[in-house]
Amino acid sequence: MRTLFTGISELRTVSVAGTIPEAALVVSDGTIEWVGAAHDCPVAADAADSVVDLGGRAVLPGWVDSHTHMVFDGDRGAEFEARMAGQDYAAGGIAVTMEATRSAGRERLEALVRERIAAGHAGGTTTFETKTGYGLNTESELLAAEVAAQYVDDVTFLGAHLVPPGADAEAYLAEVVGPMLDAVAAHAQWIDVFCERGAFDQQQSRRVLEAGREAGLGLRVHGNQLGQGPGVALAVELGAASVDHVNYLSDADIAALAGSDTVATLLPACDLSTRQPLAPGRQLLDAGATVAIASNLNPGTSYTSSMNFCVATAVLQQHLTLDEAIAAATTGGAKALRRHDAGDGRDPQGRPAKGTLVAGASADLHVLDTANAIDLAYRPGMPLTYQTYVAGKRVYG
Ligand code: NIG
Repeated sequence: MRTLFTGISELRTVSVAGTIPEAALVVSDGTIEWVGAAHDCPVAADAADSVVDLGGRAVLPGWVDSHTHMVFDGDRGAEFEARMAGQDYAAGGIAVTMEATRSAGRERLEALVRERIAAGHAGGTTTFETKTGYGLNTESELLAAEVAAQYVDDVTFLGAHLVPPGADAEAYLAEVVGPMLDAVAAHAQWIDVFCERGAFDQQQSRRVLEAGREAGLGLRVHGNQLGQGPGVALAVELGAASVDHVNYLSDADIAALAGSDTVATLLPACDLSTRQPLAPGRQLLDAGATVAIASNLNPGTSYTSSMNFCVATAVLQQHLTLDEAIAAATTGGAKALRRHDAGDGRDPQGRPAKGTLVAGASADLHVLDTANAIDLAYRPGMPLTYQTYVAGKRVYG
């Protein structure tokens, strides 16, 4: 099945090809066959099975949302309202969602995840990571991972999100790195730990990550969200694919990230919703670190999956250029999930790459309802997602 896309005012390839004005794009069986200037297109309309005229709209790769917590039930609007009235964010709120998630049951959790993915598609997101972490016992964490694995390729085991209320920390940790990990590992690709005061300290976090690695999982870390701490250094030392939040960084943290393959993931919607200082995206990029932008969709600190909003915030308030912000929310996220183009449009495992529009990559397209992608920041909050395609198939619009 071959589809020719025409009428593209600007094609942001997020690759060495840069932005191509008046472009065309050819998709074959879900992957990109060709991209370039429309007048150079080697495929005539009658050689395609279908032609989609986008009517002079901008096209970019679908967003790669590399940090979400989609498997939860419950609502924490009251906690949020109290925070807006001056209360500090504390990790303990996770326990409220834990009760609702434990009692939700498989069908309801599946329906919630489907709804959240549909909302993501409606905002231009085409690749999702999601974490467990609101079950916090073996049975519920396993269920969360099983549910997640039906809908996303990148499932992260986050049993080490919080010690559940009333549990003994040492006994809970032993469960996380023992029977819980044994049960969940077959359904997950990654392990994560909330390395923060009020959650897990450096030694505990190391134990979780090393056990996950032993079980064959890749590593991710929630680090330096609420204050300076060991999360970033630990993530870099252990070769984690990403360390996320990164609000409070020392010069040594920034240098360590810049000298590593660990992606620094900015979560601007979360920073605003918790009234934390925005993560220093500008300094990280200037130092040479690889930066991703993700939504951190979750009920406590970031109840939004809007990557358009996150990208606008990164430009308007974190001083990224539009190109940098788009790259962070596409190839940056793909790098954080190790799904980036490692050559010929394929990721390190040989699958069609995410977050870039080059031949061989997955035909994941975000079509904007405007000719100019700068409108993402210039017209913040406007409904700019026109259509979304995953592997060449229209999933929104
Ligand atoms: O990424 N920081 C830890 N985990 C989530 C928030 C969890 C919650 O409060 O429900 C986050 O912000």
